[in-house]
Amino acid sequence: MPKSEAQAAKRVAQLREEIQEHNRRYYEEAAPSIGDRDYDRLYKELVDLETQFPQLKAPDSPTQRVGGKPLKAFTQITHRVPMLSLDNTYSEEEVADFYARITKLLPNEKIPVVIEPKVDGVAVSLLYENGKLRHAATRGDGTVGDDITQNIKTIGSVPERLRGEAPKILEVRGEVFMDKKGFEKLNVERAEAGLPVFANPRNAAAGSLKQLDPAIVAKRPLGVVFYGTGAVEGVDLDLHSKMFSLFKKLGLPSSDRWWSANSVEKILGAIHELDRVRHDFPYQTDGAVVKVDSFAQRERLGFTAKSPRWAVAYKYEAVRVETRLIDIVVQVGRTGILTPVAQLEPVFVSGSTVGRATLHNEDEIKRKDIRIGDMVVIEKAGEVIPAVVEVVKAKRPRSAKSFDFAEYIHSRCPVCGEAVRRDPEFVAWRCENIQCPAQTTRRIEFFAARGALDIESIGGIVADKLVEHGLVRDPLDLFEVKTEQLATLNLGTDEAPRIFGEKNAKKAIDAIERAKTFPLSRWLFAAAIPEVGKTTASQLAAFHQTMEDVADSPLLRDVLDYHDQRKQKTKAKEIADRLIQSGFAQRSKSKNEKEPGIVTEVGPVVAKNVLDFFSAAPGRKILRRMKELGIRPKSEKFSAKKAAQLPLAGKTFVLTGTLPSMTREEASAKIEALGGHVSGSVSKNTNFVLAGEEAGSKLDKAKQLGVRVIDEAEFRQML
Ligand code: IVH
Repeated sequence: MPKSEAQAAKRVAQLREEIQEHNRRYYEEAAPSIGDRDYDRLYKELVDLETQFPQLKAPDSPTQRVGGKPLKAFTQITHRVPMLSLDNTYSEEEVADFYARITKLLPNEKIPVVIEPKVDGVAVSLLYENGKLRHAATRGDGTVGDDITQNIKTIGSVPERLRGEAPKILEVRGEVFMDKKGFEKLNVERAEAGLPVFANPRNAAAGSLKQLDPAIVAKRPLGVVFYGTGAVEGVDLDLHSKMFSLFKKLGLPSSDRWWSANSVEKILGAIHELDRVRHDFPYQTDGAVVKVDSFAQRERLGFTAKSPRWAVAYKYEAVRVETRLIDIVVQVGRTGILTPVAQLEPVFVSGSTVGRATLHNEDEIKRKDIRIGDMVVIEKAGEVIPAVVEVVKAKRPRSAKSFDFAEYIHSRCPVCGEAVRRDPEFVAWRCENIQCPAQTTRRIEFFAARGALDIESIGGIVADKLVEHGLVRDPLDLFEVKTEQLATLNLGTDEAPRIFGEKNAKKAIDAIERAKTFPLSRWLFAAAIPEVGKTTASQLAAFHQTMEDVADSPLLRDVLDYHDQRKQKTKAKEIADRLIQSGFAQRSKSKNEKEPGIVTEVGPVVAKNVLDFFSAAPGRKILRRMKELGIRPKSEKFSAKKAAQLPLAGKTFVLTGTLPSMTREEASAKIEALGGHVSGSVSKNTNFVLAGEEAGSKLDKAKQLGVRVIDEAEFRQML
C-alpha cells in the first residue's frame, strides 16, 4: 500500500485507467480479458485508496459509476429508476458483516432477508405499460442504457403482454442468459465456422444482445430470469418474497428456488444449499444474492453512491482446477471439421470428473501456447464443457512438447486417412471424405436430430452402434433397418450389455417412416450440405419444388455465373435480371457501387457448395437412393403463386410412343420442372399429347377429342 499521497495518486490514476479499460472490454465488447475475481481485486484496491485518501476521490472515477457506456448504434433509453449494481463479497465473514451492518442500522427490528441465485448473464430492464411491453434496455451506465427492445422480443420466454391483471406501470429487472447447453452448441458451431468462441455463457449472451440484427439474436438460445422491479404503479408490493408469486401470475419468469432467512446461520445455510443445487439449473450462476425482504426497510437502509445497502452478492469460488495435459488427440466432427481435444489427468470439477477438454482449433493452441505435458488450468465455462483456460508456465516441465497440428495430422484425417485441407480463410482443418466413418456417425446423428428429420431415439450412441455393427453406412440406410435389428442392438458392451429393446425400436421405426413425409426444407437441412443451415435450406425450398430441382438449379447456377461474369457486363446484366425476376435476388441498394449489383440470400459460396454436393458421387447417390426408397420431399413453401408463374403451369401433357432423342422419364421431368403436369390418359382436359414413333391408341383419342398433338421438335421449342 503506498504511503505518500503522491504515490497513492499515481497508483489511483493507474488503477482507474486499467479498470476503465476492463469495463470497456466487459460492457462494450463483451470480451473481458481478466476474471471477475482479479477485476474485483483491482476495484477494491481503488476503493481502499480513495477511502484512505479522500482528497483523491473524483466524480469520474469508476467507483462512482456503474458499468459501461451504451453502444452507439442503439438508441438510448433513460431508466425510470436507476439500475444499480451490488457489492460483491467472497467470504462468509463479509456476509455476516453485511447482516451485522443492517442490524445496526435498524436496531431492535427483525430483518428477514431473501436469498436467491445470482444469475450470470446481462442485466436488463423491461418496461410494461398496462401490461404491454413498451421497451427493453440494457443497464448502460445505470441511468441510460441501449434500447434492445427488438432483441428482447426474440426471447421466447419474455411475454409481450402480461397475463391477468397487470399494473399500470411495471419496470422489471432481470438477467438475460444463454442456457448452458445452447452455449456449448453455439461454440461448437462457431469453432467449426472458424469464428472465435465465447469464453462463457455470459459473454455469449452479452454478445447476442449487442447484435444489431434481431434475426441473429432470434437464433441464439437466450432466456431471462427476473429478480426485481424499478418503477411500479398500480400494484402494492411490500415484500420481495411476494414478488415471486406476482411475477408468476403475470407470466414473468423468475427463479424457482429462493430461501427466506432471519439470521446469519440461516443465510449461510441457504447459500450452501444453493451451491449444491445450482449446477442443475439451465443457466449459469456465479453466486447468491442476499436481499432485505421488506421494501419499507430497504427504503430506510438506502444506498451508497453505487449500490444499495440492503443487498449483497456472495460469489462462489470459480470452479477452476489445475491438472496435467497428457496428450492432444484430434476428433472428426459431422462436417469433417478436425477438433483438437486435450486428454487430461482426470480431475474433479464442479460435480463431475473431467478427463477431456476441447481446445477448439489450431489457433487456440498457438494463442495459449499449450504443450503436451503442461500443467493447465481447467475451468468449466458455464459449468458445461470444460475448457483449458491457461497454462501454468511456472510448472512447465522441460519435457513439454509443443503440438504441431499440421504435423500431427500429416494432412490426413486421423480416422479415415484421406486428405484434409485447411481453408485459408478458416481456422479449421476439414476432412473432405464424405464416407469417413467418423463423419458417417455424426451425419446419422445430425440427420436424425430435432430440426432435421426428428427421428427420436437415434442419438449419438445409437448412431455409433449402428455404424459399428455395419447396419448403417449412410444416413439413408436408416430407412432399410428392420425393427428386429434395432430391437436387438446392444448399446452397451459385451460385459455390460444394454439392449435397445422392442418398444424403442418400434418408436424409432415409426419416426423413420414419418420422416419420409417431411417437406423439402427439412430434407435439404438433413442432407448436411456444407454451410446449408436451416435458413438456407428454407430459402432453397422456397424456390425449388424437389430435391432434383435444387441439385440441378438454374438459379444457383445463375448466382455462380453472375459472380464469374461480372467483367462481361451484358451477360451479368442478363443474369441479374433473371435472378431478380425470379425473386431469388434483390437489387443491391448500396450507393457507392457504380453499377447496381444484386444481393442474394444464397451467395456464390453456398451456391457452389450445393451444386458441388449434388454433382459429386455422394450427392448423386443420395438422390438415387431417395428415389429408390420412394422418398420425394416436396417444398411446402414453393407457393402456388410461384408455381403459377412457371411457363407450363396448368398445362397437362400425355406422352405416347418413342421420342427420337429423349426418354419419357426425361420428358416428364422437364414438363414437371416447368410447372406442367403429366397424365397417363387423354381426356378433354389434356392440353398436349407429345407423340413419338409407334404412338398408339392415345394418339387416336387425341385426334378424336381435338387435343393438340406435338412432336419432339415442337416440344423442344416450347421448352
Ligand atoms: S439485484 C439494486 N438479484 O448481478 C440491486 N442482481 O453484481 C440490483 N444479478 O447488477 C441487483 N442475479 O446484473 C440482483 N438475483 C439477482 C441477480 C442480480 C444476477 C446481477 C445484476 C446485478 C449484478 C450485481
